[in-house]
Amino acid sequence: MATNDKNNNINHSSCRETARSLYRGLALAPMVRASTTPLRILALHYGADFTYTEELIDRSISQTIRVENKHLNTIDYIKDPSKLSKKTRRKLQSDNNRPCLILRIDPKLEKNKLVCQLGSGEPELALQAATHVIKDVSAIDINMGCPRKFSVSGGMGSALLEDPDRAARILCTLKNDLLSPLHKPLSCKIRLLENTQKTLDFIEAMIHAGADAVAIHGRRPGHDQIKAADWNSLEEVLGLLRPKYPDFNFLINGDFYDRVERSEFVNRTKVDGVLLGRPALYNTSIFLPTQQQPLVDKTTVVQEYLHNSVRYDTHYKNAKYVICEMMSHRRMPTGRVPYLPISFPDGQTIAKTCNCQDFQSMCQVWNVNYSNAINNNNNNINSREDNGYTASANKIGTTTTCSATPADCEKTDATAHTCTTATLAAGEHRYEDSYFLKKREAKEVEVDEEETYDDKLQQPRDEELDEENGNNDCQKSLKRAKIL
Ligand SMILES: Cc1cc2nc3c(=O)[nH]c(=O)nc-3n(C[C@H](O)[C@H](O)[C@H](O)COP(=O)(O)O)c2cc1C
Repeated sequence: MATNDKNNNINHSSCRETARSLYRGLALAPMVRASTTPLRILALHYGADFTYTEELIDRSISQTIRVENKHLNTIDYIKDPSKLSKKTRRKLQSDNNRPCLILRIDPKLEKNKLVCQLGSGEPELALQAATHVIKDVSAIDINMGCPRKFSVSGGMGSALLEDPDRAARILCTLKNDLLSPLHKPLSCKIRLLENTQKTLDFIEAMIHAGADAVAIHGRRPGHDQIKAADWNSLEEVLGLLRPKYPDFNFLINGDFYDRVERSEFVNRTKVDGVLLGRPALYNTSIFLPTQQQPLVDKTTVVQEYLHNSVRYDTHYKNAKYVICEMMSHRRMPTGRVPYLPISFPDGQTIAKTCNCQDFQSMCQVWNVNYSNAINNNNNNINSREDNGYTASANKIGTTTTCSATPADCEKTDATAHTCTTATLAAGEHRYEDSYFLKKREAKEVEVDEEETYDDKLQQPRDEELDEENGNNDCQKSLKRAKIL
């Protein structure tokens, strides 16, 4: 195991202090394509203490341009248009010249509450990426648990569990060369290792390398996400760590759908916080603080999520994806979560949602006042022309200014008309509508043939869903979730 002399000479106490207050309570877990601005803000609204971004691949975030988006009052990290391949440019052009948005932050609402998760396998790449975003986030986390092929083959995610020296070097570099001087904390998210001793050894190595908090997902690499997380092993590990590191922030993760069970587990283990991933999709109001407050009904949660998606000008396809995840429960461990019907009282179905080709129709299906949502966004507009976003957007060829709302621009024929407002809309995430549906239903909906943007670094993100826990077959996982 790596220990680092250089690290030991540096005083990390201020990072620890910040970590003590940041990494506690309930957090929205990092989830590719889900833990983006609208869900993060919704989680905070319901009482999450802090949130993680989705995993951002080091080289990908390093290649972005930081833009203050004055229309939305957000900080955006978009792909540098000059670094896009021709194919990607063509695709962006056919999508109203939307920039490739990698990260959007609401600096007001997310202040001191946002942990940026990086996917990295190399200290230098991690450092470059973290340096690029650090001024807008509260802390950096390294993903050491993702078992998908893309991560592991790139030496990232759970590959780091098998290479503790490299994992430690990444943390050590981040801590010494960036975070310590800035007094910002560093964490890692791991899975359980083969046995308790190995898990303990790995965690201790990360603590010595500079981690200020460690989140442990109660599954091992290769474990199926719909089989129950191993809470017994989590408890055993925490029972050994807590007395030895009384002031260190340990977080747990995996299947905490039930608020009573969750608080009992926390009280028993004296763990500092719990990360909620699928439970937050199951019902984002799971962050509500007390048992006295019942969960908000799912229709309302979806409506609020949709409202946020319009407000933050997400790509409607990304919003559609998350809503379908909220509706389908296909990833939920069937033993822990009662199967709930996927039809909603007002008649919304996955098929109806999938059929929507813009935000207006989605709002119609979900009875959301589109004008209110878009106004929420437009109210932030001071000047449409005088802002950095337009300047950056122009780099990818937008030339004409138009006064339509971003949503109206969605309908604009990109070949006949380009407009700066359209460039505000962003989101590189794509999926096919048929993804969620039975074969029969899939035939009835208009399948979006568009592929993901071809940027090599982003492409695998669209495969994440199936591969996150080794499920390559969507139909199989739908069957297991009793949807089929
Ligand atoms: C759609 C989806 C995307 C995920 N993406 C990430 C990710 O980007 N980084 C990460 O560390 N874990 C990721 N995970 C794993 C979750 O953070 C979490 O560890 C796992 O879902 C178990 O916790 P839960 O039972 O609270 O969902 C993802 C999980 C899901 C369902």
